[in-house]
Amino acid sequence: MVPPVISIRNLSKVYAGGDEALRDVSLDIARGEIFALLGPNGAGKTTLISIVCGIVTPTRGTVVADGHDIVRDYRAARRKIGLVPQELHTDAFETVLATVRFSRGLFGRPPDDGFVETLLKDLSLWDRRASKMMELSGGMKRRVMIAKALSHEPDILFLDEPTAGVDVELRRDMWALVRRLRDSGVTIILTTHYIEEAQEMADRVGVISKGALILVEEKKALMRKLGKKQLTLNLAEPMLRVPPELADWHLALNADGQELLYVFDANEERTGIPSLLRRMSDLGIAFKDLHTRESSLEDIFVGLVSTRSGQ
Ligand SMILES: Nc1ncnc2c1ncn2[C@@H]1O[C@H](COP(=O)(O)OP(=O)(O)O)[C@@H](O)[C@H]1O
Ligand SMILES: [Mg+2]
Repeated sequence: MVPPVISIRNLSKVYAGGDEALRDVSLDIARGEIFALLGPNGAGKTTLISIVCGIVTPTRGTVVADGHDIVRDYRAARRKIGLVPQELHTDAFETVLATVRFSRGLFGRPPDDGFVETLLKDLSLWDRRASKMMELSGGMKRRVMIAKALSHEPDILFLDEPTAGVDVELRRDMWALVRRLRDSGVTIILTTHYIEEAQEMADRVGVISKGALILVEEKKALMRKLGKKQLTLNLAEPMLRVPPELADWHLALNADGQELLYVFDANEERTGIPSLLRRMSDLGIAFKDLHTRESSLEDIFVGLVSTRSGQ
């Protein structure tokens, strides 16, 4: 078996304030994959990335990146890694070209103007190479952050929320770039709170919630789980409990008994909806309105967490 390019074991982080940001996270990243770490704000995504990149010290656990322990062998590990942080920070008065060249030097790489030129052209930054950072739009600044992260030719690239708050065009460009990088052999770990992005990009997805990695799965398998929809029936008369005759559908009662909720699998040929509506009609249960919606990330978290505790 090919050894993983990143191996994370029993990683925990408790911040000085007492916040437990990571709880016993173990994860292997395969060489050449695109791994999406999906989770809501505050889940611990940035903390995890920051530990692997040596910016935050773990409370417990170990990380090995490309054969190097990130604490004992920090410089060697860090040289293999490029990081595009969530927050954009650059020197406002430097030019694009100087920023990227300088970053390459930071990681002990000899100057290579040919490489930097190709990189800037790939990111559509070459025409702006003489611009000062403060003259650039947010989208352009983000491109420079990516160029900086790639300037020392890392094998592993971390992108922390690369498309949060960027426009559709830049998001597409970013996705295309990530694919090109993967094709050139770079392993990519990105964080996102957009299911759509994980769905579009990732080979594998990890779901993180409240510091715990609650699921790691091939994207295709996860997408089947995400294919759940919810039907809400607004009842004409409120109910105290779900009638036993409707037990087969595992309904929930909401909004003080005014709504019946039915979760169904949109991928299934038989959703169970026609039979449910017939049975309700037989029982004389009337409804005023009904609507369906896709499960949100939050529903999925709730679903996953309740499945786990039910085991
Ligand atoms: N420097 C810090 N000091 C104290 N608490 C922090 C710090 N950074 C993050 N946290 C806390 O750790 C938790 C995880 O945060 P973070 O890793 O930024 O999550 P995410 O990137 O998924 O939004 C949050 O509760 C956050 O408030
Ligand atoms: Mg974050």
